[in-house]
Amino acid sequence: MPGTSDAIELAVIGGTGLYRLAELDQAQALDGDTLYGAPSGPVRVGLLDGHRIAFLARHGEAHSLPPHKVNYRANLRRLLDLGVRRVLAVNAVGGIGADFGPRVVAVPDQLIDYTWGRVSSICEDPGTEVLHVDFGEPYTASLRAAVLAAGARAGVTLVDGGCYGATQGPRLETRAEIARMRRDGCDLVGMTGMPEAALAREMGLDYACLALVANWAAGCPEGPGQAAPEITLQEVLDNVEVASAGLPGLLRALLSR
Ligand code: HPA
Repeated sequence: MPGTSDAIELAVIGGTGLYRLAELDQAQALDGDTLYGAPSGPVRVGLLDGHRIAFLARHGEAHSLPPHKVNYRANLRRLLDLGVRRVLAVNAVGGIGADFGPRVVAVPDQLIDYTWGRVSSICEDPGTEVLHVDFGEPYTASLRAAVLAAGARAGVTLVDGGCYGATQGPRLETRAEIARMRRDGCDLVGMTGMPEAALAREMGLDYACLALVANWAAGCPEGPGQAAPEITLQEVLDNVEVASAGLPGLLRALLSR
């Protein structure tokens, strides 16, 4: 396998529509459990331009896990156990803000958590130290900056910033829910941004989000006379495919520094 002793420079967690990184050379599927249980599937470790990276499909490689059933702790802990220190989370999202239409790729800088009932901390078990991690900036500034710079070098247009609203799912939102999220300041809506980001912070991982806009969120774009088209899975998958086309180039540029 590709240099087992070499450090993994980056891990990518793929969301809806991104279940493999076809560009990985000499990829090996690493199975293994963690103290938090089983991750969503194997971690595929391989080389991209000679750089060792890992890939994990958040929902499982056959998309068998809905957002509220993903074992976020196990996924991140598995990456940590493999020596990962930097995680780029790829998330399919709906667009709320006018600048966040379908196929836009954004690197959000804020988030609001509307999820409930998910295991959202590593401080769950009796005897574990209670952490109150700083989360004012939920994404790692240096990794965000590196992703944005890589996008510029690779010719991948990225929107710098935006507030990600994490909803429970698996159903999509009502128009009223999205209107409330807009009033709250959300630009994007997705179902998997939390607790992943907070757990990454608790585990000391660098973590940034690459949000692929798959559809307009319910009732968007805002404006008089706008019809509210039904959101279909096919639309989501088609737009994620287009939005993720620049990912290999972006990763290559990110790793080359
Ligand atoms: N809402 C929540 N999550 C999503 C959406 C959406 O509209 N599109 C893709 N993931």
